[in-house]
Amino acid sequence: MMSQPAEAILKVDNLSIAFGGLQVLMNVDFSVYSNEIVSLIGPNGAGKTTVFNIISGLYRPTSGSILFHSKNLTGMHPHRISNIGITRTFQNIRLFKDLTVLDNVIIAKHFAFCYKLLGSLFYTPAYVEEEAKAEKDALELLAVFGLAERAHDISKNLPYGEQRKLEIVRALASGVKILLLDEPAAGMNNAETSALLKLIHHIRDTFKITVLLIEHDMKLVMKISDRIIVLHHGEVIADGTPSQIRNNPHVVEAYLGNPT
Ligand SMILES: Nc1ncnc2c1ncn2[C@@H]1O[C@H](COP(=O)(O)OP(=O)(O)O)[C@@H](O)[C@H]1O
Ligand SMILES: [Mg+2]
Repeated sequence: MMSQPAEAILKVDNLSIAFGGLQVLMNVDFSVYSNEIVSLIGPNGAGKTTVFNIISGLYRPTSGSILFHSKNLTGMHPHRISNIGITRTFQNIRLFKDLTVLDNVIIAKHFAFCYKLLGSLFYTPAYVEEEAKAEKDALELLAVFGLAERAHDISKNLPYGEQRKLEIVRALASGVKILLLDEPAAGMNNAETSALLKLIHHIRDTFKITVLLIEHDMKLVMKISDRIIVLHHGEVIADGTPSQIRNNPHVVEAYLGNPT
């Protein structure tokens, strides 16, 4: 084995799940280290989104566990998991569609902030100051994503690609540590996809976050990932660097050679 940082920030430990008679994940086991960009790839139906659903607490696995800094999160409520700093985006965008872009970001930040203050008094000078800062920070974050000029637009009026970016901005505003992105480039053209993935690289470096990414565009996955995990029929068939994955005969056979 190559040397790796001592402790995984996220460990998916021997995860299995079945729905009725359908075994969707079988002993899925992998680690993600601090500051990595790890891509989870595999054909449609391989179980990628299901892995995200379990990490984020939406599904409870039949067996196995999710460890964050060695702390067991399995079975924890989704809100607690996102509060710990594991936040996901969805294949179907989830925003407050009737609120402005700016308010969407401020609310995300506000929730994180309220949680910190839970049990203490609101409307202290510190709180008021924090509120003013929230707007400034939100605008700065939006600017990083090229959305500052959209700040006062109603979110549902944004083009699809910008709504996806807004989802990511909201996750960053909430103080995310591990960002789970489920096909963030879906519905984008090649240029937009390429720009978005560059941006993901940039935010990983700027915000010192860890990224777990589900993405179909292989060329881009190969370009931006530190490591790639390949799922096939609910099992991990490969885990390695982009060049290891590109040259892995099992992967080529199961996935890369197959255009679907
Ligand atoms: N809640 C569920 N109930 C029944 N089957 C499910 C459920 N969630 C996912 N599945 C099934 O699990 C398999 C993997 O789905 P999914 O994780 O969405 O795949 P991917 O994201 O890799 O395309 C599919 O066959 C899907 O129909
Ligand atoms: Mg999916």
